[in-house]
Amino acid sequence: MTVTDHERQWWKQAVVYQIYPASFCDSNGDGIGDIPGITSKLDYIASLGVDVIWICPMYDSPQVDMGYDISNYEDVYRPYGTVQDMEALIQETHARGMRIMLDLVINHTSDQHAWFKESRASKDSPKRDWYIWRPAKYSPDGKRLPPNNWRSNFGGGSAWEWDEQTQEYYLHLFATEQPDLNWENPETRRAIYASAMEFWLDRGVDGFRIDTVNMYSKPPTLPDAPVVDPKTPYQPAGMVYCNGPRMHEFLGEMNAILTEYGAITVGELPWTPDTQRVLQYVSAKAKQLNMVFQFDVVDVGIGKTHKFATTPKNFALPDFKAAVGLTQALMRGSDGWSTVFLENHDQARSVSRFADDRPEHRVRAAKLLALMEACLSGTQYIYQGQEIGLVNAPKESYPVENYLDIDSLSFYKMVKERYGVDNKAELDKAFDALQYMARDHARIPMPWNGKAKYGGFSEAAEEAGKEVKEPWMKPHPLAAQIDVASQLDDPDSVLAFWRKMLRFRQQHADLLVYGDFRDLRPQDKDLFIFIKEPRHHGVDRMLVVLNFTSEERTWETPSPEELGVLKAPELVLIMSTHPGKSREGQLAAFEGQVYLVI
Ligand code: NOJ
Repeated sequence: MTVTDHERQWWKQAVVYQIYPASFCDSNGDGIGDIPGITSKLDYIASLGVDVIWICPMYDSPQVDMGYDISNYEDVYRPYGTVQDMEALIQETHARGMRIMLDLVINHTSDQHAWFKESRASKDSPKRDWYIWRPAKYSPDGKRLPPNNWRSNFGGGSAWEWDEQTQEYYLHLFATEQPDLNWENPETRRAIYASAMEFWLDRGVDGFRIDTVNMYSKPPTLPDAPVVDPKTPYQPAGMVYCNGPRMHEFLGEMNAILTEYGAITVGELPWTPDTQRVLQYVSAKAKQLNMVFQFDVVDVGIGKTHKFATTPKNFALPDFKAAVGLTQALMRGSDGWSTVFLENHDQARSVSRFADDRPEHRVRAAKLLALMEACLSGTQYIYQGQEIGLVNAPKESYPVENYLDIDSLSFYKMVKERYGVDNKAELDKAFDALQYMARDHARIPMPWNGKAKYGGFSEAAEEAGKEVKEPWMKPHPLAAQIDVASQLDDPDSVLAFWRKMLRFRQQHADLLVYGDFRDLRPQDKDLFIFIKEPRHHGVDRMLVVLNFTSEERTWETPSPEELGVLKAPELVLIMSTHPGKSREGQLAAFEGQVYLVI
């Protein structure tokens, strides 16, 4: 064994499967996914080689931001089910030897949460200080202004909302209906821990994915953000309000509770490009979080002034490789840990974003990305539908009216306001950006069976003779071509390949999960060639060669120095996206190969 025992942990080697409750499986035919639907698919999930499921927010919520606006941490959104349904899910997950994580959304609540209702009731409400209230500023000509220039994360408006009744602004880094909690107040923190964490830990959940984990502590003076978009008064401010001075104190408090339950954590860590800063959250010694989602890869190609102010494929392969390398570098020579992911509910489909979703290429492209991910270090996360190679909904068959996400709608509205509702060119550019990057693509109901009504989203209800309603979001137009049913027994399917790669990753965990990553050709515009090396002086290493183009390519065996070996090595092919057809030095379109370097 090349990795010392104290570095090996079950959660480092685990595969986590992320579930979006509204869109996973509808058991009762109301067109909305639900908790019993998730329970009914646990055998399928386990059969992929998954160790942990992560459920996106299923709490009671007005659903302004699909459950990331919670009105009661201790109840379940009724269309999804009940607390009893969750207890059954927890039990059934454990019965299959898997664990379950929930989403912990505690930077903000819904404005419909009892705490906020009380807080906004009057300036001397006992809960006034549970949220962030500030008086207005005034311009020289007496115009009322918000306390600073921070832009909300959705659209182009201010992160502050004026409250007429009490004549103050409250802060909402996301939607107006998502007021930020005031973490400076110890009483608020205790209430958060009890209601959002302990309530569910006591019911047996094994950990949390922690939403926007670096936003709880704001800089005390709430300073203005630098102006990057002179066309508007409100500026992207993540670099100002993330990673504030008391972050680690707060996470230390949370960690003490989580440790009592043996719960694991993965924090969402936007706006933190500096590896040393990331390490302060995930160094084992720091006792804060087990791991984080760094944004290096998912930020590739996004716009400078606004995420959607970009055009499709606005990056070159070296940019993508550098981003992968940055996340991987966190673990090199450190006691920190990170994650491997290309998709989640906030991202478009990875085949469309980073590879090629044309019908003739998408299967191979999906396998290429699966092979790449399975060879990267960190804990592996897979998002529902990724295992069958789902792609973005095409522009022609999925009009902009089908998009429902607040992030997409706020952006589209901003473009209309800025350029006019008749500006076809700007609106079309905006639609292109959404078709490429919108969160909606990940949220389209899961196509279980392309031959069934609505892609099989409510199949069990239909089979039981129940009336089945149209899903809450229009079904995927490609459900007949990309679905679970047709891939289950097809040994050449993307699904079969993911299963194979997850087994392969476990078999070679020393190198693939725990090893060190080194990019051998960072400047190559077509190929991604990297090596995985043992962390300690072992002998094995693996070479991974990936063709990101739709044409054949050749590659030269890296020199012994590049490979870090003494003499000309022998390369033994041990995995390929094109089994039986791979040749050393050659790559078919979107082919990936893995070699043992001897
Ligand atoms: C990150 C979540 O992943 C996203 O879906 C949500 O909109 C924001 N945080 C606000 O909670």
